[in-house]
Amino acid sequence: MKIGVLGSGIVGRVLASAFLNEGHSVMLGTRNISKEEVTKWQTENSGGLLGSFQETAQFGEIIVLAVSGLAVEDAITLAGKEHFFEKTVIDATNPIAAVPPDNGVLKFFTTLEDSLMERIQQILPDARLVKAFNSVGNAFMYKPDFPGGTPTMFICGNDDGAKQKVTEILTSFGWETEDMGKAEAARAIEPLCILWCIPGFIRNQWTHAFKLLKM
Ligand SMILES: NC(=O)c1ccc[n+]([C@@H]2O[C@H](COP(=O)([O-])OP(=O)(O)OC[C@H]3O[C@@H](n4cnc5c(N)ncnc54)[C@H](OP(=O)(O)O)[C@@H]3O)[C@@H](O)[C@H]2O)c1
Repeated sequence: MKIGVLGSGIVGRVLASAFLNEGHSVMLGTRNISKEEVTKWQTENSGGLLGSFQETAQFGEIIVLAVSGLAVEDAITLAGKEHFFEKTVIDATNPIAAVPPDNGVLKFFTTLEDSLMERIQQILPDARLVKAFNSVGNAFMYKPDFPGGTPTMFICGNDDGAKQKVTEILTSFGWETEDMGKAEAARAIEPLCILWCIPGFIRNQWTHAFKLLKM
């Protein structure tokens, strides 16, 4: 598949490398293709392409949203809404507010009756959004290897076909997937990021992932 990754932060670069490693064609999108970390990524990832947000969204048969939560709307405008039409869009973003955490508890700019993914879905009504990768640190997004077993990625979205595609990708990345339903479930999945970060902020422990235990 052709994968367009919007965002050149650590998440964008990690996921772009992972897709390349799985044999996909990948373009990493940024506002500045000359940035040091971006040119370094391309040197270390032969075959990886660089482009503007617009070129990357146009390129991708599947698009990954990996920009700052506060910048999602601007990034989509730069990418061009028309380039998301009927595409599977993996939404890895979190609505983290630009204020410090309270005793290790991050603050969101959304409420529990709302989520960033639902806001994005309103901006892109024809896109097939799937929430994924938001509730684990970037170091474990690809081929996580925990003594406790295979971790669970919680996903949600309104399109079953898109969720099936993302589940196949997650399986190839070494995850088990739990489909939590429609877009509204992002109200519960996004705050898992807050929970995931607490041990990091209060004890400097950042090496964990969630697993759903079932009978
Ligand atoms: N860090 C993690 O381990 C982790 C884990 C799970 C989920 N997440 C989520 O994944 C997303 C990416 O996180 P990150 O840590 O890789 O990086 P980040 O610092 O949150 O975001 C960097 C990206 O945001 C873009 N950006 C910033 N301001 C912008 C603006 N005004 N207009 C357009 N684009 C703008 C940057 O564009 P340029 O490329 O042009 O600089 C860059 O691509 C976030 O939503 C985060 O909450 C992060």
